[in-house]
Amino acid sequence: MQPLIRMTIGVALVLGALLLAANTLGRPPAAPASGPIAGDATRGQIVFERAGCSACHTTTTEFRVGTGMAGVLQPEGPVYPPGVNYGGLLPNGAPRTEENVAAFIRATNQGQIGIMPGRALSDQQMADLIAYLRTLTR
Ligand code: HEC
Repeated sequence: MQPLIRMTIGVALVLGALLLAANTLGRPPAAPASGPIAGDATRGQIVFERAGCSACHTTTTEFRVGTGMAGVLQPEGPVYPPGVNYGGLLPNGAPRTEENVAAFIRATNQGQIGIMPGRALSDQQMADLIAYLRTLTR
């Protein structure tokens, strides 16, 4: 190979490597995955107790001031006292989805049983609480 060609190839390789490095270094760090906040059921149990839910709700099917929480995130819902029937919906008439249960917990609601005072929880606390409620099956 002639020296000139060898040098040209060498320069091209160095330039290529530099461009590659600059491209990688200049890239902004990967954005955190967007989407729903991951909930942790163990932390959710603490939220349930600290937010005072357990004063009015058991974590079984047993009735306290409100229904027991077992089944609250299952399609059939919790066990209601005789005479109370929401036709598969939440006490406020919303479909039984996790989003609607979260909204129910944040708002003050009046149903056939009584009034539940809303609780101001952060998005992380709510995600943890919902993860915990998911474990309460009947
Ligand atoms: C002062 C008592 C009280 C407290 C505290 C309370 N609730 Fe309630 N909750 C009620 C009552 C009463 C109802 C029933 C409303 C109705 O059906 O008339 C209810 C209903 C609910 C329902 C709807 C159940 C269903 O599907 O029918 C959910 C979910 C719920 N509560 C979750 C919670 C959570 C989670 C907390 C804590 C952040 C909490 N509650 C704190 C009294 C309370």
